[in-house]
Amino acid sequence: MATTAPIFPDLAGKVALVTGGTSGIGRHAALALADAGAHVVITGRREKEGQAVAAEIARRGVESLFVQGEITDEKHVADAVAQAKALTGTLSFAFNNAGVELANVPTTEATSEQYHKVMDVNVLGVLLSMKHQLRAMAGNAGGGSIVNNASIAGSIAMGGVGIYAASKHAVLGLTKAAALEVSKSGVRINAVSPGGIDSEMLDRFTGGRQQAALDWMTSMHPIGRVGKPEEIAKAVMFLFSSASSFVTGHDLKVDGGFTAQ
Ligand SMILES: NC(=O)c1ccc[n+]([C@@H]2O[C@H](COP(=O)([O-])OP(=O)(O)OC[C@H]3O[C@@H](n4cnc5c(N)ncnc54)[C@H](O)[C@@H]3O)[C@@H](O)[C@H]2O)c1
Repeated sequence: MATTAPIFPDLAGKVALVTGGTSGIGRHAALALADAGAHVVITGRREKEGQAVAAEIARRGVESLFVQGEITDEKHVADAVAQAKALTGTLSFAFNNAGVELANVPTTEATSEQYHKVMDVNVLGVLLSMKHQLRAMAGNAGGGSIVNNASIAGSIAMGGVGIYAASKHAVLGLTKAAALEVSKSGVRINAVSPGGIDSEMLDRFTGGRQQAALDWMTSMHPIGRVGKPEEIAKAVMFLFSSASSFVTGHDLKVDGGFTAQ
């Protein structure tokens, strides 16, 4: 029998924060949360895109807010968490998604600037986010759930992606340590590790969608295609919901079989 009931009814009326919500996976996760009835605060650097996504969220009949800033700026991170919590008094969910890629840089050519840029956004950004989110969630009667966006590059690597792979391996380390720290508090912390996903990042990674690069990307996924941002959003929704109530410190790979090879 067809049903219009939301798949994850336990998210309705709760507050979620999505970092890097202005595009790609973050935008789709924010819209999926809104479809489930959650109030959603998104962060990002781009004002126009952020306001546009906030308007898309609001059209779903929930509260929405865009907080502009740099994920490496602790003041911005703390402010976004505070604004999210202020919506209802309780922050229940956070998706730490903001990230940057770096490819085609062999170890012999890597620079300190590249290292600091990627590590600051991908690792420090997640660390600062969890620091303030966990403080905000402390004492939540209904617990909470945090999901960090890692990557298959958190478990494997390819030539030329050393700094990016190091940053995503670090995200998994942060995820596991924090999950253990709060394991008895009712707050669960997990990671999602996408394979190649059709987003602005994939556009850049394939040199502006060059056919040879796209074909190679497709061939690396046993399922026969790259993924869609909404397929990552669904995994994030599962990790937020009570359907995953016994899952913490986990790395959920959503990669079309990439890492099974
Ligand atoms: N697309 C893929 O193939 C893929 C695969 C594995 C993991 N990921 C991860 O998914 C996440 C989202 O990427 P996406 O594919 O949606 O690409 P995207 O480029 O569309 O999204 C990245 C988001 O992070 C934000 N961001 C980047 N640097 C920031 C900074 N300094 N401060 C604040 N926000 C910042 C961007 O504004 C954007 O909203 C990233 O963490 C990425 O590493 C993507």
